[in-house]
Amino acid sequence: MRDLFIRGGLVVGPTDVAPSHVRIVDGVIAAVGPELSPASNDYVIEADGCWVGPGFIDLHTHLREPGKEAAENIDSGANAAALGGYSAVVAMPNTEPALDSVAMVTYVLERGASARVDVAVAGAITVGRRGEQLAPLAKLASLGVTLFTDDGTGVQNAGVMRRAMTYAAQLGVTLAQHCEDETLAAGGVMNEGRVSSELGLVGRPAIAEEVMVARDIDLVRLTGCPVHFLHLSTARSLALVRAAQREGLPVTAEIAPHHFTLDETACRDFDPEFKVHPPLRHASDVAALREALRAGEIDAVATDHAPHTPESKDLAFDEAPPGMLGLQHAASLTLDVVGTDSPVQFFDVLSRGPARIAQLRAEDSRPRHSAHGGAMQPGDDANVVVFDPSMTYLVDRHHLASRAKNTPYHGRTLRGSARATIVRGVVVQEGGELC
Ligand code: DOR
Repeated sequence: MRDLFIRGGLVVGPTDVAPSHVRIVDGVIAAVGPELSPASNDYVIEADGCWVGPGFIDLHTHLREPGKEAAENIDSGANAAALGGYSAVVAMPNTEPALDSVAMVTYVLERGASARVDVAVAGAITVGRRGEQLAPLAKLASLGVTLFTDDGTGVQNAGVMRRAMTYAAQLGVTLAQHCEDETLAAGGVMNEGRVSSELGLVGRPAIAEEVMVARDIDLVRLTGCPVHFLHLSTARSLALVRAAQREGLPVTAEIAPHHFTLDETACRDFDPEFKVHPPLRHASDVAALREALRAGEIDAVATDHAPHTPESKDLAFDEAPPGMLGLQHAASLTLDVVGTDSPVQFFDVLSRGPARIAQLRAEDSRPRHSAHGGAMQPGDDANVVVFDPSMTYLVDRHHLASRAKNTPYHGRTLRGSARATIVRGVVVQEGGELC
C-alpha cells in the first residue's frame, strides 16, 4: 500500500473547514495541516478547488446479490459507489433469497470484503420479508448487523413491528422502515393525485406513507427502540419526524435524491424510469424536502440505488418494477440543493449522519468495518473523498459502472464530482476511473 498525500484541498471537519494538506500512512490519516509536504514516495492527489472529507456512506443500496445479478452484483454496485465518492454502502436485504439468516448475511459480508468499498449489511426484520415471523435478530446482530429492514415493503402488522422493536431495543440495533401501508398503496403505480387521474393510473397516496410514519413513532415512544425512516417523500412525513425528534424520541430520517429533484409530472410520458416506491410526489412535497435539506433538518441523504435490467424496465408503466439508480449522481444532486457554501452540511448528510445511523464510526460499539464518517483528524481510518464541487459532467446511462442503466437523469448535466475516493488508505477511484 502506497502512502498518500492529498495536496491543496479544503478539509471539511464536523464544524468547520480549513485549507490543509492530508497525509495518509498505512491506511490511516497521519497528519492534516497547511504546512505539510509529501514524502518522496507518496502518491500525490491534487485537490485544488476540492473539498476533502470523510467518504460518503449510502444507507440504502440494492446490490441485488444473491438472486438478481443480471441487474447488479456486489462488485458492480461497489464500483458505482466508489465512482460516486462512497467509501461504504449498506446492502439492502431484499435479495433472493432475502438476507434473513446467518448464512445469507455472512455470504454478502464475505463477498463484500473484497469489493472496492466497505459493504455493511442490513438484515431483514422478518423471515423472507413476509412481515410475519421475526428473523433471528440477535444472531444477525452478533455478526455486526446494526440495521434491520424489510425494505421493498414496510412491516405492515403493528404487532410484529412492536415485537421487533422490543427485541431490537435490547440488542442496541436500529430498525429501518419502508413506510407504505399496503391497504392504502396496493395496486398503485405513481403518486395519487390530479396527475394520476389524468393519466388513468392507480395512485399510491401520501397518506399510505404518513400513517406508517405516525404509527411507528407511537411504537418508538412505547418501546424506546431507535427507528430510521427510509426514503421519506412527503412534507407531512418530515413534519412528523421533526416533531418526534423535538420530543426526544430516537428517530432519524433519510431522503433520496429522486424525491427532492423530480416530481410526479415526470410520469406524464409513462416512462418507467420514473416509477419508484414511494412514488415521485407533488411539487409542494419536493419543495418541502429541498427546504428541509437546506435547513439542516435531514439526517441523511440515501440513494435507494435500485438497479433493474433494461428488459424488466422496458415494460408498460403499470408492469415495470419500481426503482432507479442512485450511487453515481447522488452527491451532485445533493450539492445542487445544499449549495457550494455549505460543505459541512454536505458531509453531514452524505457521510457523518449516515455513519452515525449505521454505527460505522470509530466510537460505535461494534465496528465490523473500518471506521467511517470521521472528523478528518490524525488516527482516523483513511476513508476519504476528494470532491470537486465545480466540475460539471453529462450523465450517460451507457457509461455507468452499474450493470443496469435505469437512471432518470440520462442526458442531464450535473455539477460536483468525486475526483478521488480512498477506502482504507487505498485509492479506489481517481478522475472517474476505477483503480
Ligand atoms: O422503488 C423501489 N425499488 N423502492 C423500494 O423500496 C425497493 C426498490 C427495489 O428494490 O427495486
